[in-house]
Amino acid sequence: MSDDHSMPVGIDTTVPHPARVYDYVLGGKNNYAVDRDYADMLVAQAPDYPPLARANRLFLSRTVEFMAQAGIRQFIDLGTGIPTSPNVHEIAREIHPGAKVVYVDNDPIVSVHNDALLATDDRVVSIRADLRDSESILADPELNKLIDFDEPVGVLFVAVLQFFPGPEVPARIVSLFRERMAPGSHIAISQPSAEGDPEAVARARAAMAGGPLTIDMRLHDEILPFFDGFDLVEPGLVDVTKWRPRMDAPFTRMLVLGGVGRKSA
Ligand SMILES: C[S@@+](CC[C@H](N)C(=O)[O-])C[C@H]1O[C@@H](n2cnc3c(N)ncnc32)[C@H](O)[C@@H]1O
Repeated sequence: MSDDHSMPVGIDTTVPHPARVYDYVLGGKNNYAVDRDYADMLVAQAPDYPPLARANRLFLSRTVEFMAQAGIRQFIDLGTGIPTSPNVHEIAREIHPGAKVVYVDNDPIVSVHNDALLATDDRVVSIRADLRDSESILADPELNKLIDFDEPVGVLFVAVLQFFPGPEVPARIVSLFRERMAPGSHIAISQPSAEGDPEAVARARAAMAGGPLTIDMRLHDEILPFFDGFDLVEPGLVDVTKWRPRMDAPFTRMLVLGGVGRKSA
């Protein structure tokens, strides 16, 4: 994206934004110089970031496919990111052509792209909202018009919970959704982990310290409680490249952990 002055209202190009940094690292064009400079600095210190971002995105694809194969026809994708093809509705519709998707992100650039892309699709909605106010997201009229909480729903927290430091805030956000979900519903969660090679993790942490985009890299046992009340499907909460893989993944010194939980009766 050009760094001109004709950008949509609300888009701040003076500080890096997670959605745009992630887009750049995935090879996208919807980012600005401030995002690219920050990402280049990060990748210099944490060279695993691009392969981890790609592995995380492939994990998202496989989890949506898995949920759709389990009969899920409606999805809520929280912390959507800038549209990357194939996106959730495209993957789900390979299996259920009428699948419905609500995309939620707090970054205005995500809404701008989603609104343009999805304007003519009445089974996909994009909502700009902060996950810290998940009560409002769950009460959103557009979301409730599309999603029937009496039926199983797939809720995705893919590479987003790391933006909420400490245990309480992410636990509260996830539990608000878990409580609303009918039996047979699924959640997918992934996030950068503090496991993996200690030196690589320490370098990544040092690169982010005091900067604009600090994240909480959690241990396996700190992520596990987010699945409370749900049964983890095989192979559990693991390195995302090992979650029902289709191909060999490149070796990385750092890890993103991910898993899928199912709500039983
Ligand atoms: C690393 S991207 C992940 C995108 C996508 N889920 C994926 O895994 O490919 C994180 C996304 O979370 C969004 N995000 C960060 N904090 C958020 C918040 N408080 N509320 C809603 N979205 C948020 C960012 O704007 C960004 O688009």
